[in-house]
Amino acid sequence: SLPNKVTIIEVGPRDGLQNEAKLVSTENKLEFIAALQQAGIEEMELTSFVSPKWVPQMADAKEIVSAVQKVGRQFVLTPNEKGITSALEAGARAVAVFVGVSDSFNKKNINKTTAESMETLKPLIIKMKQDGIFVRACISTAFHCPFEGAIKPEDTIALCRKFVDWGVDELSVADTIGMATPTESYALFKKLNDAFPRVLMTAHFHDTRKMAIANIFAALQAGVSRFDSSAGGLGGCPFAPGATGNVATEDVVNMLHLMDIETGIDLDRLCEAVSKIEPYVTDSINTGMYTLYKNR
Ligand code: HMG
Ligand code: MG
Repeated sequence: SLPNKVTIIEVGPRDGLQNEAKLVSTENKLEFIAALQQAGIEEMELTSFVSPKWVPQMADAKEIVSAVQKVGRQFVLTPNEKGITSALEAGARAVAVFVGVSDSFNKKNINKTTAESMETLKPLIIKMKQDGIFVRACISTAFHCPFEGAIKPEDTIALCRKFVDWGVDELSVADTIGMATPTESYALFKKLNDAFPRVLMTAHFHDTRKMAIANIFAALQAGVSRFDSSAGGLGGCPFAPGATGNVATEDVVNMLHLMDIETGIDLDRLCEAVSKIEPYVTDSINTGMYTLYKNR
């Protein structure tokens, strides 16, 4: 049976903007974040602490975290000790670490093999849990790798198991380049939920082939009730060739509401938040609900 309530983790300010070539000012990012909070978004990835040489758009991570009201769960994304230290200093209480199932993607993304990344992360996660930080582990290329092709579900599950053993609160399992099908989504999330019943299980779909919303429905049927999505459908990983944006939050929220599933999000205000960022991004925003909002 489907859940009565779903939690949306808004990733627009992070996944949405990291791939944006034009620098968005800190002020405009903060307006976007505030508008998202006003729409009822309670969990969000605000920014990432990564090398500004690799991802110039996220160079203002410190300013963003310090300025944002820490209501709900406000995440920062980071892959290493330097990032975690700066994030905690800036006041973050919820940290998302990330790693790819496939070595070749992880190398391109973080310049380490998967095993090297895991070795780095283990003591950091254990320490954060001792300090009462909420830890989420984002698992890239969980279905498909842009360089290695299809990923075996057992490999994804084995990687997730390590994070669960180290005490993470949440797994966010990602279709990085939007290659998963609803059949695969159902199968993997069913296995993950059976294997890890005590961890929050979140699905993260990119919408390259316009199958993300179908993949979300399949994951709902497999018992998932948390979804990452990006307002305006912005986003993509700069180191994953072929990736486009995340599934659009407004389209996910609309589907859920029509299915009588609560999200706590006000759709009109969410579209208003999209309109705040639209002037500052290169690509035109033409998600279903935002287009209807503008044309009404
Ligand atoms: P590197 O060059 O191998 O490592 O990069 P390094 O240790 O030599 O660091 C290079 C420079 O970055 C140094 O500065 C470091 O101090 C600095 P320099 O001495 O040259 O002036 N540095 C940092 N600065 C700020 N914050 C940090 C940090 N760490 C090092 N945390 C590194 C390794 C990991 C830094 C680099 O590869 C990197 O930044 N990668 C980030 C890639 C990224 O952001 N990808 C997108 C996010 S993941 C994603 O989108 C997928 C997801 O959405 C799920 C899905 O869809 O699959 C989550
Ligand atoms: Mg992503």
